[in-house]
Amino acid sequence: MSASIRATHRHRAFRTAVVPAAGLGTRFLPTTKTVPKELLPVLDTPAIQYVAEEAAQAGADRLVLVVSPGKESVAAYFDPNPDLEAELRGQGKDALLAKVRRAPGLIQAQVAVQRKPLGLGHAVGCVEPLLAADDDAVAVLLPDDLVLPTGVLTTMGAIRQRHGGSVLCALDVPREQISAYGVFEIDDTDDPDVKRVCGMVEKPPPEAAPSTFAAAGRYLLERVVFDALRRIAPGAGGELQLTDAIALLIDEGHPVHVVVHRGERHDLGTPAGLLRASVDFALADPDVGPDLRKWLRNRVRRETA
Ligand code: G1P
Repeated sequence: MSASIRATHRHRAFRTAVVPAAGLGTRFLPTTKTVPKELLPVLDTPAIQYVAEEAAQAGADRLVLVVSPGKESVAAYFDPNPDLEAELRGQGKDALLAKVRRAPGLIQAQVAVQRKPLGLGHAVGCVEPLLAADDDAVAVLLPDDLVLPTGVLTTMGAIRQRHGGSVLCALDVPREQISAYGVFEIDDTDDPDVKRVCGMVEKPPPEAAPSTFAAAGRYLLERVVFDALRRIAPGAGGELQLTDAIALLIDEGHPVHVVVHRGERHDLGTPAGLLRASVDFALADPDVGPDLRKWLRNRVRRETA
């Protein structure tokens, strides 16, 4: 990355991060009867906290959680819990106290309610009345996607400073998996990790996909996207798709680029994906990693014996 791009990191690209969290979490039933999916832990910390940390690290000071009625406890996770804090302080459990205080100190959380499940585009559109006058762009982070190592949003901010318009994160995925994603039609730029987007389509069949570059749940969108969201019709799955609003902006000449993420991505939207992410985090944890590694080796050996 060039020095001029690095220098722009100091300027904040956005202050509001939007996290759509209105889904029913059907793949995690029966747990999600009472516990929102976004509060399920990766090791010991809920996915929503990782996403909030990523947004704050990239410069956001406001997190707007889009929830369906009944899922307000996702936002309550960001409230202080004075009784619990006093208890932990009294017992001298400072490390736990720091963990409990982390989320409330991180970012200011607000809620937008999506009353009907009309799609991701509709969910993002529900945030518009909460925007501030200086919200020229917003970040959207899908909490099902854990993009590692964190930092891609910061890079996306730098690319927006350079090219203007909107910037998304892309992953190069195997063609046989491409129909699970929003897919980019792209042109190369002088940077192999930055592509100009000339089209976008939601969940195409593999043979019709314009590339193998897929949207990876991180978006930095100029405010005009809210206008586009009002003008789209239901698309893939009969839902109002964020992809279709972005495609409309591209058609109307708005610059859109992607940063190609070469690292890891966990799909927390499925039980198997959440488990993999937990194992990944646990193996890297100095307290639980060594024992888990030993246990896993033995467990797999028994499987293959
Ligand atoms: C959503 C988006 C899709 C994107 C994907 C990334 O799809 O609509 O464009 O590629 O997230 O995880 P969903 O997984 O909600 O079906």
